[in-house]
Amino acid sequence: MKKEEQIRAGLGKLPIRPVYLVSMEHDGRKNIITIGMFAFFSGNPTLVGIGVKTSRFSYELIKKSGEFVVNVVDEKLMDAVRICGESSGRDLDKFERANLTPVKGRGVDAPHIEESPLSIECKVVKELETGDHNWFIGEVQAVHARLGYEWKQGMLFKWIGKDGLFFEVGDKKGKY
Ligand SMILES: Cc1cc2nc3c(=O)[nH]c(=O)nc-3n(C[C@H](O)[C@H](O)[C@H](O)COP(=O)(O)O)c2cc1C
Repeated sequence: MKKEEQIRAGLGKLPIRPVYLVSMEHDGRKNIITIGMFAFFSGNPTLVGIGVKTSRFSYELIKKSGEFVVNVVDEKLMDAVRICGESSGRDLDKFERANLTPVKGRGVDAPHIEESPLSIECKVVKELETGDHNWFIGEVQAVHARLGYEWKQGMLFKWIGKDGLFFEVGDKKGKY
């Protein structure tokens, strides 16, 4: 038996998901934003999307440059997630503040984060106006993985009450 929940509380019971560091650059201004809203939009062409609140500095930079890089987070990047999620690139250089290194990509001018184990270069092909967050849909141009990186090393994240908690990927429980 199920009972109807208050919407916010109900959605808070969704399973745990990854969180990403998305990097971008416009007119010499580099920035990084912590992003939970990430999804696949198409297999062919390969499209992924990120939901960015339209008031964010990152929104402005992606809108103007038409590019972004989705960087996967491992254990060493947990501090960077906090820093890039609670400060604005309007006020400081988050690469410097989080001690991260921008590296040039292949298919886009937006920088990768060197310390991330997996970086996905995207060019914006569409912007969906959906509400307070708009979705930038990006066609994947290239993917760069650190040697030896395995998907299990990526971190999962969940807000539980006021706490943002990181989790490791868990044990296998079944086979499809
Ligand atoms: C765990 C976590 C997930 C977040 N997910 C998103 C998101 O999906 N979209 C978004 O616009 N902001 C998200 N934020 C908030 C931004 O990262 C935050 O407002 C940031 O300071 C914006 O930086 P900017 O002004 O440099 O763009 C998230 C923050 C945290 C801590």
